[in-house]
Formats: sequence, C-alpha cells, structure tokens
Amino acid sequence: MHRASTHLRARGLTWTPWGAEPTLVGIDLEVGVGERVLITGASGSGKSTLLRALAGVLVDYAPGDLTGEVSSGAGEGVVCLLLQNPTDQVVAGTVGRDVAFGPENLGITGDSLHAIVRRSLGSVGLRHLAPDRRSTHLSGGQGQRLALAGLLAMQPSALLLDEPLAMLDHESAAEARTAIVRVAEHSGSALVIADHDLAGWWPHIDRVIVLEHGRIVFDGSPEDASAHLHSPELWLPGASPPAEPIEIAWQPDPAAEAPDAEPRLSGYGLGYSTSSGTRLASADIELKPGDGVAVTGPSGAGKTTLLRLLAGWYRPSRGVLMASTSLRGAHPQEPYRWASKDLAARIAFMGQNPDRGIVAKTVLEEVLLTRRLTGRFTRKDIPRAGRLLECLALDHAEARNPHTLSGGEQRRLAIAAAVASDAPVVLLDEPTVGQDRSTWRGIRAAIELLRQHGRSLAVSTHDARLSPFLNIHAEIRPVSGEHRS
Ligand SMILES: Nc1ncnc2c1ncn2[C@@H]1O[C@H](COP(=O)(O)OP(=O)(O)OP(=O)(O)O)[C@@H](O)[C@H]1O
Ligand SMILES: [Mg+2]
Repeated sequence: MHRASTHLRARGLTWTPWGAEPTLVGIDLEVGVGERVLITGASGSGKSTLLRALAGVLVDYAPGDLTGEVSSGAGEGVVCLLLQNPTDQVVAGTVGRDVAFGPENLGITGDSLHAIVRRSLGSVGLRHLAPDRRSTHLSGGQGQRLALAGLLAMQPSALLLDEPLAMLDHESAAEARTAIVRVAEHSGSALVIADHDLAGWWPHIDRVIVLEHGRIVFDGSPEDASAHLHSPELWLPGASPPAEPIEIAWQPDPAAEAPDAEPRLSGYGLGYSTSSGTRLASADIELKPGDGVAVTGPSGAGKTTLLRLLAGWYRPSRGVLMASTSLRGAHPQEPYRWASKDLAARIAFMGQNPDRGIVAKTVLEEVLLTRRLTGRFTRKDIPRAGRLLECLALDHAEARNPHTLSGGEQRRLAIAAAVASDAPVVLLDEPTVGQDRSTWRGIRAAIELLRQHGRSLAVSTHDARLSPFLNIHAEIRPVSGEHRS
C-alpha cells in the first residue's frame, strides 16, 4: 500500500489545562519520515500529553488552551496513537473484530482483512487467542498487545506509542518490541515511543528526547544521551535501582499489627474459571505477617485473578482460601463471603488499572476514602495522608481531581490509598509500572514500610528490581493453551 511520507511537527506548542499551569511549554519538534524517537522523562513530565498533541487529539481529551502549531505530514497515511491505558482502546466485543476495526475503516474486506488480522495478532504473540474470544476477558498484558495489534493492522505512517510494553513480562515485551520495530522498518513509518525503560529500545532508536516539566531538555542520539545524561530519575541503560532508602514519616495504626505469625490468608490449589474459560489454573499461597510475596508468571497466567481471589472478589472455582481468625474476627472463613466494608477494612487492593478505581473528587479525599467508609477516620488521618503523598511525590497534587493525574501519578495515588487504609493485608497489582527511578524508590519504601509493620503483602510484578524487597516468590503456571508458543 502506498503511503505518503509523514512528518510530525510541533512549533511553539504550549498546552495549559484549564485552571492549571502549562504542562507543555514551547515545544519545538520535528519527526522525519521513518525516524524512531524515544521520549522519556520523569513521571508527570509531559510525555503522554506530548504524544496526544502530536496525534492531534489533545483538545478532545481534556479542556485546556493550546497555542502554537502542531501538524502531521502531508495529509495521507494514518497516524496511530497507543494510549498509556490500553483498555481505553478496546472498540469491539471480540479479539478478531477489535483488530479488524481499523483496517475495515480503511476499506479492507474479505480474505485480505482476515490475513491482516491473523498476521497482526501473530506479530504480538497472540496467535493462540481465538478470534471470537471476548476482548474484555484478557489479562492486562494481553490487552496491551491486542491494542498494539489493532494499530499494526492499519499499517500506519506514524506510530505513537505510550509505554507500549509496560504491562508485559520480559519475554512478551521483547516479542512486542520486535513486532513494533519490524512494522516500522517495513512500512517506513515514523515511530515515537514514550517510555521509562530505555535499555530495550536503545539499539532500535535514532533519537532520544527528554522532557522536564513540559519542556524539552535534551534532544540527541542514544550515544550522546549515554555520554551526557546523568539525570537521577531516568532509567538509563545500565542504571541500577537507587540504593539509598527513603524514610516514610508515616506510622500505621498499631491496632492492625499482627498478634501472631500464622498466615492471615492461605490458599491451596486455588483456581478460577468462568463460562469463557479458565483464568487461573492452580496456585498455592500463604500470606504471613511481614511477608512480601512476589506473584510472578507470564502474561495471562492468572496473577491478577489470584490477587482478586485473595481480595474476596470471586468465589474460587477450585481449591480453598481461608482467612485466619485474627484477620476475619467473627466473619466466615472465606473472604468472598464478607460484606464489602469488612473486606475494605481487612484487605487493601490496588488494581492493575488504577484509574478505574478512582472514586473521590480530590487526591487527598481518594487517599482518605477507605478510612471514612470503614468508620475509622480521625483527624490525624489528614496529616498522615499528607506524609504518604509526599513520599510518593504527589504532595503538589492534593487538591487535584485524580482523573487529571498522569498514568504514573494515578498508580502512586492508588498505592497511597491502599497503604492509608491501614488494612492488615495489602495486594498490589504491578505497583511499579510506569515509574521513573525516583518515584520507584517511593514505592519500594512503601512496600518496605508495610512489611516492617507486619502487614502481609502480595505483589504481582514483572519488575525484577523489586525482588530483593519481597521475601517469597510464587510463580503462577500459565493456564494450558494460554502460553505463547
Ligand atoms: N487538568 C490538569 N490539571 C493540572 N495538571 C494536569 C492536568 N492534566 C495533566 N496534568 C499534569 O500534567 C503533567 C503531565 O502529564 P502527562 O500525563 O503528560 O505525564 P507523563 O510524563 O506521561 O507521566 P507518566 O510517566 O506518569 O505517564 C502531570 O504532572 C499531570 O499531573
Ligand atoms: Mg504518561
């Protein structure tokens, strides 16, 4: 298919959300045909905003004032944007229809359409998913790859990707990265990727752009970046996790300290299936006071499902899950039988897509919400919440609407809310996704704090850097037929 060359161009681009300070300031940027650009910078520096601006969708996304110019190419060719939260991008009920949506809108039909759908799913490692599989019944990583397949199917002339690999394990990430680079090579499309993890992209990119508070502070080759960039918040290739711990001036309520060392939650042979298939085959897990259990396993193995079972969301289809007497009090043994208020007071859960859990109108209120709803709120909770927000680099945003936070900021808010609830059991689904090197340290500190105070943690994660801060490793085996070939 013939495509005209596409340049992405921004001139003096400034974006000011209504009632706020500008979040992009005087951006001058040109991306040439076939060029591959990596945009990085601290969480909240403006990466997603810049991608939305280049895709021409900023004004549809949020109310604000846009000054300067932004244009994409010669008017031909498709500019595709992969959103930071890929579930926002599901457009059709089944996997096949979802991938077909873009090419269908370009007028492609019949056998060519089927071939494109198959090839696109295959290129991101989703060959094994039946085309009639419900697109909403996917793991976070599968959802991310589905969204990517939908974009690759359109053979775009410019591909703008916002943290496209964030939810994927190492192997799936490598596969998806190869697919992205291959498509860009074949089609000659411009590639602009926003990411925190730089090492994997390094050999594949021509240019690195670093944002700081909405401004471009570096624009050069990866070689120049390696030689000249020393920003402590960037995960430059070879950067180790920050060694120095940070103290969180936050004391949990001693009432929730552990009375003994028996596991608060014990699950044996836990499995979960619905009419649409098996989401978790079998898992054993024990959460003792002070434990941090790393729940690992390939994309789609059932890590999130296990955490949800522990959180009492579902009744396990197989196996048993028991809560200790100290955790459950007078309530039944199985968490799924508890009322939601009793669950919230005992088990804090941070989901993989934290934006979905937002309820309150301000950041501070979101942190205090569970305390209020479970009848445990006291005035002391307000300064305590403030200290947590400070450690998670959100103190500047206390009065903000949580929906206006960046992806990384929303995740830290959800972690702050889980910690502040003071529940004895804390479940975190991919807590470090989308974090820069400095905000990563805040999350690590929160995990260490909870363990020091005898809370029981289960943390689903692909982040090998977290391993030293978790003492038990529970690897989830993939559901048969779900693993990639
Ligand atoms: N309506 C708004 N009011 C005030 N600030 C806003 C608004 N919308 C976005 N922001 C701020 O703009 C900044 C840039 O957001 P953006 O999502 O572009 O960051 P990012 O670099 O992609 O961060 P992350 O790495 O966490 O995804 C953030 O600090 C965010 O809180
Ligand atoms: Mg972002």
